[in-house]
Amino acid sequence: MHRERVFFFDTTLRDGEQSPGCSMYMAEKLRMARQLESLGVDIIEAGFAIASEGDFTAVEQVARTVRGPRIASLARAKEEDITAAARALEHAERSRIHIFLASSDIHLKYKLKISRAQALEQADQSVRLARSYVDDVEFSPEDATRTDPDFLCTMVQIAVDAGATIINLPDTVGYSVPLEYAELFQLLKNKIRGIDKVMLSCHCHNDLGMAVANSLAAIEAGARQVECTINGIGERAGNAALEEIAAAMHVRQDKLPYQHVLALDQLYPTSQLLTELIAFSPSPNKAVVGSNAFSHEAGIHQHGVLSNPLCYEIMTPALVGVPMNRMVLGKHSGRHALGHRLGELGYALEREELDVAYGHFIAVADRKKSVYDQDLIAIVQTHLRPVPSGRTA
Ligand code: KIV
Ligand code: ZN
Repeated sequence: MHRERVFFFDTTLRDGEQSPGCSMYMAEKLRMARQLESLGVDIIEAGFAIASEGDFTAVEQVARTVRGPRIASLARAKEEDITAAARALEHAERSRIHIFLASSDIHLKYKLKISRAQALEQADQSVRLARSYVDDVEFSPEDATRTDPDFLCTMVQIAVDAGATIINLPDTVGYSVPLEYAELFQLLKNKIRGIDKVMLSCHCHNDLGMAVANSLAAIEAGARQVECTINGIGERAGNAALEEIAAAMHVRQDKLPYQHVLALDQLYPTSQLLTELIAFSPSPNKAVVGSNAFSHEAGIHQHGVLSNPLCYEIMTPALVGVPMNRMVLGKHSGRHALGHRLGELGYALEREELDVAYGHFIAVADRKKSVYDQDLIAIVQTHLRPVPSGRTA
């Protein structure tokens, strides 16, 4: 089956980094960028060059050192932003200037305080200027999903005519729902002259918990670039989580038949590195990379997984680089899981011994949330035997 290519645009270092608790030092950004290179993302948005000296240097250093992914810098539709982005990207192997300009009336009126006509003029001028520096220019009508569709089409047509190579439709405030977001891509495909010469891109925020669903809907409607972040970090409720989109495409190839060049086994190491660098970790129940994503506590689940992981796992931990699935032993666990874990710890118990151990285990589990290996060893050593079978003290 022919599978179309989807390009992963990672904005962990820009949209992610600009959110509370996520700022990184220069050296940390470089470490993260190198890991994104190992993961195989197609584009790294390394920062917003005009925003600060630190951001400028980050874009410049990433552009100098990272090879493989294209390096992008964000810029407002202003001359000073675009020239700063172009300078920061000078040493990139391949570069992109990413221009954003509000298109919704609420943003034009209250944030930018400019008319629609002025915005159209800025779109035209900024894309032309950016094209005089680089051959790859992305244009984002900010708050696209709350923009009057006719005006959105007018602005996008101007950006395409001025030479934009990527048109991104940001769901800036995470307002859209999947079907509606997909329709916006259809609208552009029907209305914009020359749309087949540009790549369409989606950029979704997670305010209503739909960032990944909206991104997948956009891809099905023709977007071939997906903008996302590791662990879904980003403004407010975050951006679409890269690892969730990648895992969904792998597990549901039947419904999402797209190609990409990500090394899936680098998803977890990348998530872990980000966790090490910023102030918080993904919630334990976070899909794909959360600490519970491959853990099983309920006895019936543990028994099933030990017999055949497919009973309760739609992908193996190894696929996404998680070292192993963890059976969390707690009061819901059964004899089977306890015996299995004790076996791994070197205690091959007879049936009667396992009954004894299980009684003590349940008593401990009633007092504690989780039962750790040390607890199990203490149970066996106190009540059954001092050392594992086949080992000497
Ligand atoms: O959410 C947004 O609108 C953005 C743009 C700058 C692309 O991050
Ligand atoms: Zn954003």
